[in-house]
Amino acid sequence: SSPSKVRIYEVGPRDGLQNESKFVPTEIKIELIKKLANAGLKDIESASFVSPKWVKQMSDGQEVMKNIDRVPGVNYPVLVPNLKGYQLAKQCNVEEVAIFPAGSEGFSQKNLNCSVEEGLRRFKEVADQAVKDGLRVRGYVSCVVGCPYDGPINPKVIAKITDELFSMGCYEVSLGDTIGVGTAGSVRKLLREVVKTAPPEKLALHFHDTYGQGLANLLAGLEFGITTVDSSISGLGGCPYARGASGNLATEDLVYFLYGLGVNTDIDLVKLIEAGRYISNFLGKPTESKVNRAIGDR
Ligand code: HMG
Ligand code: MG
Repeated sequence: SSPSKVRIYEVGPRDGLQNESKFVPTEIKIELIKKLANAGLKDIESASFVSPKWVKQMSDGQEVMKNIDRVPGVNYPVLVPNLKGYQLAKQCNVEEVAIFPAGSEGFSQKNLNCSVEEGLRRFKEVADQAVKDGLRVRGYVSCVVGCPYDGPINPKVIAKITDELFSMGCYEVSLGDTIGVGTAGSVRKLLREVVKTAPPEKLALHFHDTYGQGLANLLAGLEFGITTVDSSISGLGGCPYARGASGNLATEDLVYFLYGLGVNTDIDLVKLIEAGRYISNFLGKPTESKVNRAIGDR
């Protein structure tokens, strides 16, 4: 059965743009965030405070966070990899930070330059400080079904990391199929294990749509009582350190899909499509959202 309401957590300005080689000027990022809020999105991951040597596209996080119009009731979380990034984020008065341990050794080394265990230790430092400072902390686990370096991942490993994130004080944990290799079958296997200990209402699903399985995977996930879904405007996204990763499930496709299920999202699809067009036009490439293509071209 479908939930009556789904919370959409938009990752376009962060996950969506981090993989783009053409630098997106700060004012375009700010305008995109504004358009997303205007379309009714209430959670917009807006920047990351990772090493600028690792992800140059995100190097203007401070300028972005200091200059966005913060609409009351809208949450603008940012991604942080360590205490250094946390301190930089804190200077911009952010209210929520996201930490992101990997579900596999291979990806942890490539993405964070450390082991899974060392990553968890660093993220605990961040979470402890954030909790002390009264900020909300969101957790991600990446490569929850498959890793480009290590292959298929055991659901028990993901369940354990998820539990650790909750014990660090995360209010929510987002399960990331970083390279989009999951299927409804593997997602079910994963969730059967994870919900043995984690409350589904505190989980989120984060699907990259590399193999076109995003919506099918989501339908499988909704059956477990999960009501938060991550998506990216225009289907942008991917991680520069995950070989073969492509864009996230497109927010336009997600909203259309949920509408079809009779699930309330409070999103204005027309404004959303316009936001998708805005950023795709800037990047000079067609939108990855099929719904945007179908409706936008009409
Ligand atoms: P490292 O090189 O091992 O870092 O990188 P280090 O601690 O040895 O420091 C080296 C230098 O970087 C030092 O400067 C630090 O001060 C600086 P120097 O002394 O040489 O002048 N530094 C920083 N500068 C600014 N901000 C910081 C920061 N940290 C160190 N935060 C590190 C380790 C974790 C920093 C690096 O590997 C990194 O930034 N990784 C992040 C990569 C990334 O952003 N990936 C994409 C996001 S994850 C994702 O997309 C998946 C997700 O969507 C979920 C899913 O799809 O499943 C979340
Ligand atoms: Mg991602």
